[in-house]
Amino acid sequence: KHRKTLEGKTVLITAGPTYEAIDPVRFIGNHSSGKMGFALAAEASKRGAKVILISGPTSQKIEDSNIEIHKVTSAKEMFDEVFKYYEKVDIAIASAAVADYAPKEAAKEKIKKVENSLTIELIKNPDILKTMGERKAKQFLVGFALETENEDENAKSKLVKKNLDMIVLNSLRDEGAGFRNDTNKIKILTKNKNSEFPLKSKNEVAKDILNFMESQILK
Ligand code: C5P
Repeated sequence: KHRKTLEGKTVLITAGPTYEAIDPVRFIGNHSSGKMGFALAAEASKRGAKVILISGPTSQKIEDSNIEIHKVTSAKEMFDEVFKYYEKVDIAIASAAVADYAPKEAAKEKIKKVENSLTIELIKNPDILKTMGERKAKQFLVGFALETENEDENAKSKLVKKNLDMIVLNSLRDEGAGFRNDTNKIKILTKNKNSEFPLKSKNEVAKDILNFMESQILK
């Protein structure tokens, strides 16, 4: 029944959080559930695409012969996995909440309690999406932005800086949007268009995102 609008296309999707090890038992992470990325993967597959889903640690599950799932833990692992496939894909959607920083070195043994304050030095992680933008050839590139202030301007400047074709903006200010929720409220920006959508389930949001993307690709 589904129209196979993405037949013949390969879509790479990053999803979920990344975990950055502090020591063998601790990490720096975030509240991303992976739901948005997995919903996008399922919807792209329904539309006939071959999907390469590269996901950080999540409890999401998906069984679909058109979806190849690659599990990673840290941002560096996600980076390496993405660039094994990036060159060959037609569309890349970066919905992962990648940690911006990682401990300079993960301690080999569990860090012992110390008095009062403990300092962990953090080093910037590679920006996976920005690197995809730099290496862009034929790929249609979609990024996400989660902003708490000056949403539109910040998203627009990411669109340009990361060389994206489109960016999906969700604001933490909107009730029911963003992390862990089953719903999301988005705005989509391109260089010369911007569309706002009402609060919907993440499965419905995935349809809006792919519909908008198809209208940009096929235009
Ligand atoms: O710059 P910022 O992290 O807000 O940009 C968010 C977008 O960039 C998301 O699409 C996210 O998946 C991607 N990103 C990435 N690698 C990073 C940081 C963000 O791919 N290290």
